[in-house]
Amino acid sequence: MFAILGDSRTVEHNPSDLLREESEAVELVDRWVRHWDEHGFGYWCVRMAGSNRVIGYVGVKRMTVRGSRVLNLVCRLGPDTWGRGLATEAVSAVVSSVASEMPTETILGRVRPGNSASQNVARKAGLQRDTTLDDEGDDGLDWAFTNRKQP
Ligand SMILES: CC(C)(COP(=O)(O)OP(=O)(O)OC[C@H]1O[C@@H](n2cnc3c(N)ncnc32)[C@H](O)[C@@H]1OP(=O)(O)O)[C@@H](O)C(=O)NCCC(=O)NCCS
Repeated sequence: MFAILGDSRTVEHNPSDLLREESEAVELVDRWVRHWDEHGFGYWCVRMAGSNRVIGYVGVKRMTVRGSRVLNLVCRLGPDTWGRGLATEAVSAVVSSVASEMPTETILGRVRPGNSASQNVARKAGLQRDTTLDDEGDDGLDWAFTNRKQP
């Protein structure tokens, strides 16, 4: 996690997520593990098929945004793996897992307006722009993409 979130390329659109010390990564992973203990779901490691090397993480976390209870979707992969369809594959796996195991939940992907790669991933995984959940995040405006049916 420190290799991924300590890399300025990975947090280009979300600079407040940058980790400076390995201890911050340890704290973060502890928090993610506690979320698993409490809710029975959370972030997964992403590995290349046939390899044990962790190339990133993907998953959902319980959150309340603009008064709505949602599952906040996150995906971050190391830069040496970008541009090969891996995020699309990983995010699609999470979206279909939530659809079958927690079908009434709202999945929310919060994406900075300039992060077109991430917006492509959200759309290709079946999420749609949902302006009602646009919100100010730690790094400025976040555009919302959800699995809610649009009017
Ligand atoms: C965003 C991220 C997850 C995409 O991962 P990836 O494995 O490269 O994505 P994919 O290969 O599945 O490609 C997804 C789409 O984005 C496009 N894309 C990839 N890099 C791009 C870039 N730099 N600019 C614009 N589009 C880009 C691809 O062309 C593809 O769309 P297409 O198939 O319609 O052409 C990855 O870059 C990443 O981890 N970035 C840092 C963290 C981050 O920003 N996470 C999202 C926070 S909301």
